[in-house]
Amino acid sequence: MTTTMDITDANGAPRGRDRIEWAERAMPVLAAIRERFAREQPLAGVRISACLHVTAETAALVRTLAAGGASVRLCASNPLSTQDEVAASLAVHDGIAVFARAGEDRATYFQHLEAALAHRPRLIMDDGADLASLIHTTHASLGAEVIGGTEETTSGVSRLRAMAREGVLRYPVVAVNDATTKHMFDNRYGTGQSTIDGFLRATNRLLAGACFVVCGYGWCGRGLAERAAGMGARVVVTEIDPLRALEATMDGYQVLPIARAAEVGDFFCTVTGNHSVIGREHFLKMKDGAVVANAGHFDVELDLEALRAISSRSEEHTSELQSAGSGPPSTSTRSRTAAGSTCSPRGGSSTSRPPRVTPPPSWTSASPTRPSRPNTCSRNATSRSPCMWCRWRSTARSRGSSCARSGSRSTSRPQRSGPTSTAGRPGPDVDVERDPDGALVVGGEVTRAGVAGCAGRRGCAGRRS
Ligand SMILES: NC(=O)c1ccc[n+]([C@@H]2O[C@H](COP(=O)([O-])OP(=O)(O)OC[C@H]3O[C@@H](n4cnc5c(N)ncnc54)[C@H](O)[C@@H]3O)[C@@H](O)[C@H]2O)c1
Repeated sequence: MTTTMDITDANGAPRGRDRIEWAERAMPVLAAIRERFAREQPLAGVRISACLHVTAETAALVRTLAAGGASVRLCASNPLSTQDEVAASLAVHDGIAVFARAGEDRATYFQHLEAALAHRPRLIMDDGADLASLIHTTHASLGAEVIGGTEETTSGVSRLRAMAREGVLRYPVVAVNDATTKHMFDNRYGTGQSTIDGFLRATNRLLAGACFVVCGYGWCGRGLAERAAGMGARVVVTEIDPLRALEATMDGYQVLPIARAAEVGDFFCTVTGNHSVIGREHFLKMKDGAVVANAGHFDVELDLEALRAISSRSEEHTSELQSAGSGPPSTSTRSRTAAGSTCSPRGGSSTSRPPRVTPPPSWTSASPTRPSRPNTCSRNATSRSPCMWCRWRSTARSRGSSCARSGSRSTSRPQRSGPTSTAGRPGPDVDVERDPDGALVVGGEVTRAGVAGCAGRRGCAGRRS
């Protein structure tokens, strides 16, 4: 690795320039800012270290910062989305110090983070908070010089918020993900499209008629579910947040716990920001040939260790998938679900990417504010004369249906305790069914017009406060 850049092949630069120019045609606002920056030089002499997806769109951003006078060092926030030709063009044509190679291994990934920080940045641009994590751990001496940063993605913002709550965050950060124009358009529509694109490029399979399981119905999950349905797939959603599970139901999708979805899905994609969403017991239930991917920021959403342990065969396909995923310049495949390895427990496959900076466990919170839920049904315990809802629940339980709060299911499911993701455990996922009255039952709670619980119907002593 040279001190000024590390890219795969400088000869790809002309092709990279084509891709960047194509992307810039769709970014007129950035072009206008670049013109102004070139005149006004607002960033003259400012050192910026950026850890972002090294794609044509990021190149347009970096060229704009450089036009404003900044000295930028760029490394990849995800080796699987790096476009080598774009990295080459930035280095050769724009003189940007780029440290990014498509498919780079863990050691190289860390070397590149180090190289970006060796710039002694005044400003940080992160996508996943890896630079920030280093600045707050092994490179703490740099913290005093950093005057601020930006963070792009949901998982990175969650990490930084957890650090801010603990009072350890050393500089202000703009949570780019919180901008409506970011999460609504990038997470929902962008990730929706590019995840489907990744599936198709990697598998060349027909989605129409298949069962597509979307784990997590947040911004990304909504977009992915909508796009999968648009391709003709039958979409099943898994969720741990009852309201979002209900939203998915009202949007027309079937909602199941992952334990049940695992049995019926042909395609699976996690987009939760949480850990261990699909684990060993789920892999074992999957159909032969099921395709599993992660589009969340970290691949810890899938228990890849367990998958490897139960696999009869494991093959690396990084280069093929990489070239399949590189696509024409007109296609922005920023979120590359197609990735490094496939394992086959009874033929299933999985995607992964190199592990990242490991922050203290409390900084990895995916949903830090979600409340804990009791795992027993106080309603049944206190009711002397159970309402129809509670009677129905006990009938449902005796026939093996689900109540997240009581009965056999509650002991077999992982339970959320406090800010669950902080502890690295998934919360209980949610069933949506209908009770005999036709009311929606979300995760063991009846919901009518937004009111959760049995609400004391027919004088049930188990009324929820
Ligand atoms: N691939 C991309 O291009 C891309 C783009 C933006 C964001 N992301 C990443 O995608 C992930 C999701 O982002 P988002 O903006 O949709 O977040 P979000 O917070 O809007 O949604 C996440 C959803 O997942 C649910 N969830 C959490 N744990 C779950 C579990 N065990 N099972 C089922 N559902 C669970 C949550 O309740 C929530 O509804 C984050 O890691 C984010 O950084 C990826």
